[in-house]
Amino acid sequence: TTQAASALPENEPMQRNKEYADIDWDNLGFGLRRTDYMYKAKCTSNNTFEQGQLSVYGNIELSPAAGVLNYGQGLFEGTKAFRGEDGRILLFRPDQNAIRMQIGAERMCMQSPSVEQFVDAVKQTTIANKRWIPPSGKGSLYIRPLLIGTGPTLGLSPSPEFTFLVYASPVGNYFKDGTAPLNLYVNNESHRATLGGAGCVKSITNYAPVIKAVLRAKEQGFSDVVYLDSVHKKYVEEVSACNIFLVKGDVISTPSTVGTILEGITRKSIIHIARDLGYKVEERLVVVDELMEADEVFTTGTAVTVASVGSITYNDQRVEYKTGDELVSQKLYKRLVGIQVGKIEDKYNWVA
Ligand code: COI
Repeated sequence: TTQAASALPENEPMQRNKEYADIDWDNLGFGLRRTDYMYKAKCTSNNTFEQGQLSVYGNIELSPAAGVLNYGQGLFEGTKAFRGEDGRILLFRPDQNAIRMQIGAERMCMQSPSVEQFVDAVKQTTIANKRWIPPSGKGSLYIRPLLIGTGPTLGLSPSPEFTFLVYASPVGNYFKDGTAPLNLYVNNESHRATLGGAGCVKSITNYAPVIKAVLRAKEQGFSDVVYLDSVHKKYVEEVSACNIFLVKGDVISTPSTVGTILEGITRKSIIHIARDLGYKVEERLVVVDELMEADEVFTTGTAVTVASVGSITYNDQRVEYKTGDELVSQKLYKRLVGIQVGKIEDKYNWVA
């Protein structure tokens, strides 16, 4: 776009006009790779966001007293851009991320961009970083919108200024073993969220506190952690960065998103697809024992897509699940990805 072109430093290599960045597209993983541009818009006293602008990707300057640094006033989102086989660029439901950011902003006493501004920012960031969108079938461009309190505040109060940022990085599989079934560990000592907290919105404050449990689980050879509710310590909530589902017979169940559980966009898309394929899907309280007795377990998230679970360990008991191509989770995965990359007709109008 012209905006992107004018953001180029004078001596920037011509690299940026190439169709593809010069990287190994076959081994992307989920690491941060800096791309060319980011989007930024501020909101100060009049409570509306200024028109945002693309700039060259780089560090931002913050007041040491910024609300996000001192009191964690921040939200993030995650969405993906794909390249179709015909070269088309496809975004998956960015409007849903915009709406979720608005709901989160209300919870965290922040101003938020309009749905139109959010989606436009995601589009601009995607197009400006087009050469970082992996070739069809090799991954996606993970887009990270951020809303942070950047104004200074000493007392505990809403930040007097908010900044909306969007940056992007090409990604492959979230977990280090690629698409291998996950080995999950149920940790009933640390909890991801409590009733009345901010577990149901994508507050940055939900994530750092679980890193300790994730690292400990990884040290012991597990892929990730399943968290239970903090009151009864028996209801399944989430995995650290994704929602969880179980299959028993021909019924698919997942914890309902009441209070402590993030309303995942992949979660609700998978519920929709599964119902359309004729499965009965229940959103309800799920007791941890049900996981241990399930035929199949899988997780969903923007970063993880749909990942099947190979084993769960809880109270020194390990159960293993069948794996392979015939799984319900694999059917759902293929349908979802087919829509995302434009191979299956988008009858829901999800792709932008
Ligand atoms: C996502 O799936 O987009 C997430 O927000 C998870 C993140 C921790 C990578």
